[in-house]
Amino acid sequence: MAKKAPAHRSQLVDLVLHTAALLGVDSDRELAALAGVSVDNLDNWKSGATQELKVQTLAAIKDGLARRVQALKEAAREVDAAHDAGLLALEIEEGSGPAALQRQFHDRVTYDYLGHRFLYFDSQGALAWENLMRAGYDQGCWLAGVEVCAKKLVDDGVIDKRRGLDLVSLGPGEAAKEALIAARVAALGLPWLAVALVDVSIPLLVSGAKACRKKASQVLPFCADFEEGPLAFLSRLPTAHHDGARLIVMLGNVFGNVRDEETLVTERLAAMVRPNDLLWLEVALRLERVEDDPLFRMTLPAQGELTAPEANRRLLLEGPYRRWEAAQGRRPSAMHTRVWVRENDETCRVPGSLNFCHDLVFEEQRRACTMLYSRRYDVAALGRWLEGFGYVVEAVVPVPDSQKRTRVAHLVARRR
Ligand SMILES: C[S@@+](CC[C@H](N)C(=O)[O-])C[C@H]1O[C@@H](n2cnc3c(N)ncnc32)[C@H](O)[C@@H]1O
Repeated sequence: MAKKAPAHRSQLVDLVLHTAALLGVDSDRELAALAGVSVDNLDNWKSGATQELKVQTLAAIKDGLARRVQALKEAAREVDAAHDAGLLALEIEEGSGPAALQRQFHDRVTYDYLGHRFLYFDSQGALAWENLMRAGYDQGCWLAGVEVCAKKLVDDGVIDKRRGLDLVSLGPGEAAKEALIAARVAALGLPWLAVALVDVSIPLLVSGAKACRKKASQVLPFCADFEEGPLAFLSRLPTAHHDGARLIVMLGNVFGNVRDEETLVTERLAAMVRPNDLLWLEVALRLERVEDDPLFRMTLPAQGELTAPEANRRLLLEGPYRRWEAAQGRRPSAMHTRVWVRENDETCRVPGSLNFCHDLVFEEQRRACTMLYSRRYDVAALGRWLEGFGYVVEAVVPVPDSQKRTRVAHLVARRR
C-alpha cells in the first residue's frame, strides 16, 4: 500500500501510487519500469515536486495498469475455465501427500499411536468414510445443525460483512457442511469469500472442492496435515496478503479426534487464528449416561450381528493396516478392534470430556495401537477451557439427532 500522501503531493500521483500498489507493483523499480521513467523521477512524484505527469508518461501508466488488470482477469478466467473443463487445481504441501503418509504409516506402525489422519487418505479409506455416513450416521441432522449455526452467525452480526473472509476448514472431508456455510455467508455480500479446505485425503478434497465450487469467490483445496505439517498453506490464504477476517472451522468432531487438544490450540491454531478471528468447533457431546452413546455398544463384547454403522466403523479402522500388510506381502494378522472409554488421563485434557479410544489389537504380537480418539465434551466446560487460551465464546448451538437427543453442539469463539 502506498504511504500516506504529504499534503503537497499531487492527487493524480497519489492515485497512481495507490492503484499500482494494490495491483502488486511493490517496488520503485517496478513502478518506474511500468511508467517508463527513471527511478529518480519517483522521488519527485512522492515529494510533490512533480505536480503534473507528461502525456506520454500518463499513457504508459494507463497501459501498464491495464496489463496488470488483464493478467488478473486471465488468472481468474483460467481457474474458472479449468473448473468448467473438468480440471481441478490442488496444492499439496510437502510431507503431506499420499506417499509421505504411507511412509509415515510404515515408520510408525510398530508404535502405540497412529491416529485418525491415516484413516481416509487413500481412496478405500475415503470410500469407507462415505459408507459410514450413508448408514445410520444421522448426517441430515448434522447438516441442519450447521445451517442453524451459520444463520445465527450471520443474523447476529458475528461475521463482519464489511471485510473479506477466509473460511478455512481443517479436516473438511467431503465438505458438505462448508458448502452450506459458504452459501449462507456469501449472501451477506462480503467483498470476497475464499474457502480453503485443508485435508490429507485427496479423494475427499476432490469431492469437497466440487461441493464448494461456485459458493465462494475462490475455493482453495490444500492437501496438508494441520496437526504435524509445516502449515505452508497459510501463506496462500488471501488474508495473508490483504485485510480480511478468518473463520477457522473444525466440524464433525475433528477437534475431538486430534492427538492432543492443547498442542493443537497452542501450537497449531495459534498460528492460524489471529486476534479477532473466529474459531468454530462442532463437537460430540458427553451424554448424561455414557451407555446412551451409540459408540458405547462397541465397548462391549460382540453380541450377535454388528449393526451397519458398527461394521463400517470396523472396516474404516482396520482398512489402513490391512492394506499396508497386503502391500508388504505379509499374511493377514490376527487382529481385532477394541473400543474403550478413557477419562481423566492425558488423552482427555478438556475438563468433563471422555474419550472413546479405538485400538487395533494384534493378537500374536500381544500389543495394541490406537487408530482413533473420539472424544465427548461438556460444551460449557470446553468454552471455559478455551477462554483460558484467550478465546471468548460468542455462540453455542446444540443439535439434536434423529431421536431428538442432543448429541452435538457448535461452539464459536473469537480470539482476543
Ligand atoms: C471424519 S472426517 C470428515 C469430517 C467432516 N469435517 C464432517 O464434518 O463430516 C475427518 C477428516 O479429517 C481429515 N484429517 C484428519 N486428520 C488430519 C490432519 N492431521 N490433517 C489434515 N486432515 C486430517 C481426514 O482425512 C478426514 O477427511
